[in-house]
Amino acid sequence: MIKKIGVLTSGGDAQGMNACIRSVVRTSWQHNIVPYGIERGYEGLINNLITKMDPRSVGNIVQLGGTMLKCARSKRFRTKEGRKQAYDNLMAAGIDALVIIGGDGSLTGATIFSQEYNIPVIGIPATIDNDIYGTDFTIGFDTAANVALDAIDKIRDTADSHNRIFFIEIMGRESGALALQVGLASGAEIVMIPEILTQEKEIFEALETSINNGKTSHIIVVAEGNKSGSIYEIANKVEERFIDFEAKVAILGHIQRGGSPSCYDRILASEFGVYAVKQLISGNSNVMVGTKNRKLILQPIEKVLNGKSEIDKNLLDIGKVLTSI
Ligand code: F6P
Repeated sequence: MIKKIGVLTSGGDAQGMNACIRSVVRTSWQHNIVPYGIERGYEGLINNLITKMDPRSVGNIVQLGGTMLKCARSKRFRTKEGRKQAYDNLMAAGIDALVIIGGDGSLTGATIFSQEYNIPVIGIPATIDNDIYGTDFTIGFDTAANVALDAIDKIRDTADSHNRIFFIEIMGRESGALALQVGLASGAEIVMIPEILTQEKEIFEALETSINNGKTSHIIVVAEGNKSGSIYEIANKVEERFIDFEAKVAILGHIQRGGSPSCYDRILASEFGVYAVKQLISGNSNVMVGTKNRKLILQPIEKVLNGKSEIDKNLLDIGKVLTSI
């Protein structure tokens, strides 16, 4: 019987984490379980930053980006000593189960900890990268995509006024999901992602087509982890080749992790939170909640960590079709 649940946000923050914390805290309270907030992820668990929460502690946060519990990437939690300290702190607070809100690094920590100390854990996928196997969407992806899209729409105004080729870097060290989403929605002529190598030749050909079709400005979306090299080098090469155009670079960076969560992210976060607490109550552990075809689902964390999330290559093809005429 679970009496106290600990909740933490870990890894990179994502918009909607607050809505999820609110959901976990209030659902726990509804079931006579006392929720505890752990600040700064696993690092805070080791440093004993554990505070009792109630429905009012999560008031007025559903609309806020970031995370009221703060995030961290903890090196110490990767060590046995760190995890032992974390366990001792949990036991001292009488916490019987954990809800971990974060990306795959956070889930790895959760599963190791749960196996080592037999603590029930449940994962909630939250990352702007949308690169977690076992869920169609992660918390934060929709908002980050809309933030980036809004920025590109603005860049388009100035790009077109000056006949420029704009290279815009989108977050995603390992994944091109965000760049793909934003690339198609913004009408980018080229989208460069880590999963598929874009040859210089392809960039030149796409731009030649675009120019021959009478376009006066061009948008190239480049995922942070693309394998074709530095965005500045690519932009320089393009400028040398297309001498009538100036090439400019805009790195959107962490702005994509900020701002008020979208309606979709708030709803997803709220649903995940309720579902996660209910799963813990019914005795499930070492699983991650997710969504598949708009339905809530559960996956063993081990399966999630061994699986590989696939990008939707169709988005790339649709983008090519729509921008090549
Ligand atoms: O995983 C989310 C993410 O925003 C990636 O897209 C990005 O590569 C990385 O985190 C940046 O991490 P940090 O905030 O630690 O620089």
